[in-house]
Amino acid sequence: MTHPVDFVVPEVEDFDSPHALFAELRGRCPVAWADEMGGFWAVTRHEDIARVLTDWQTFTTTVQNVVPPVATTQRRPPLHLDPPGNIPYRNAILRFLSPRRIEEWRPKVAAMVAEHLEPYLARGGDICAGFSFTLPIALLAEFFRLSPKDAEEIRLVGAEFNMALQRQDFETLRERSDALYNIAARLIEDRKIHPQDPDLDPVSNLLAVRVDGQALPDDKILGALRQFLLVGIIAPTTFIGSMAVHLARHPEHHAELTENPDLVPVALEELLRLYTPYRGFARTARQDVDLGGKTVKAGDALAVVFTSGNRDGAVFAEPDLYRLDRGETDLLTFGRGPHMCPGAPLARVLLVEVLAQIVAKSRRLELTGPLEMTRWPEYGPLAVPLAVIR
Ligand code: HEM
Repeated sequence: MTHPVDFVVPEVEDFDSPHALFAELRGRCPVAWADEMGGFWAVTRHEDIARVLTDWQTFTTTVQNVVPPVATTQRRPPLHLDPPGNIPYRNAILRFLSPRRIEEWRPKVAAMVAEHLEPYLARGGDICAGFSFTLPIALLAEFFRLSPKDAEEIRLVGAEFNMALQRQDFETLRERSDALYNIAARLIEDRKIHPQDPDLDPVSNLLAVRVDGQALPDDKILGALRQFLLVGIIAPTTFIGSMAVHLARHPEHHAELTENPDLVPVALEELLRLYTPYRGFARTARQDVDLGGKTVKAGDALAVVFTSGNRDGAVFAEPDLYRLDRGETDLLTFGRGPHMCPGAPLARVLLVEVLAQIVAKSRRLELTGPLEMTRWPEYGPLAVPLAVIR
């Protein structure tokens, strides 16, 4: 399906230009068609994004999950299934992300951040290559209790997949995606032969789930594990880069947090709002539907642009400003509705710790060269060259 073009996806972007484009679209054409990347509606207002995500009967996740569409061989639950099919897979992971479990992670995460951050701060340079590409993968390896060999492999393959996705190198992406499937398949085989306590091991737990007395299908378990192995890696990588850019641009905010570490959790929420790392998660309309003044046709893809909704002036006063006095905010950073990110509490523990340790262990960050930016479906930098002033 094509429609009259409302905007053209820019070929070149910088750190600020996507926000300027989305502000313009929210004012002029809040549900806007672009022909690039297979053709899609960009849904840019907070209210419309929330509607698309919660009305899963009209906007399905079973067809296309991201803009641009990434060719996939399999549907990967829970994100690629509508309710109720997603629920057993989602519950299987939620069990490991309860408030009690998250508190248990806090000291481990703090130690892991210190271990990765110290060597980076001592030498400076690109914080993405030197720190944020590897830390989230190390956490995931712990989370899934990978053997040291698998952890090492996933560190390499995951980082290459991440780079290929962000640079839109689709050939490498397919190869690395297959490699991730192989790691997931090996892990499942291992747990079938050597089951672990399902209360401690997420893969053994997936294998132990029964729905109406039946085990979950092998191919869906594989797809779910492949999704879990990746979904938590990508956003923290670019988002840590965005936090670093903000601190470098605003040494007064850096100093404020160094002097008042209690402000770090509030500052993190504000940074998650300002530099929301996902803009291209997608749904597909099941039927013709009116949205934001446009008629979306059955089969059309819609990108729910979280990066834009979080700067919508209808919800956030002075939306482009960093303010620590907002109180409770209605953030879209982690989505909404049946697929809202179950990993959000763990992501917050990780990112609070990263921000707290950066401001505690450095006096200032200075940009020393140009940023390299990622593209849809993410927002944020892939390279942030820095001098670290300690
Ligand atoms: C800054 C970090 C993160 C951000 C911004 C983020 C954001 C999101 C968003 C927006 C969605 C919903 C996508 C949609 O509705 O189409 C999502 C889903 C998901 N996220 Fe996260 N995420 C982050 C970190 C993590 C981590 C660390 C984990 C794992 C522990 C994780 C696991 C998942 C899973 C499993 C789903 C699919 C849930 C479902 O379909 O039920 N995420 N995430």
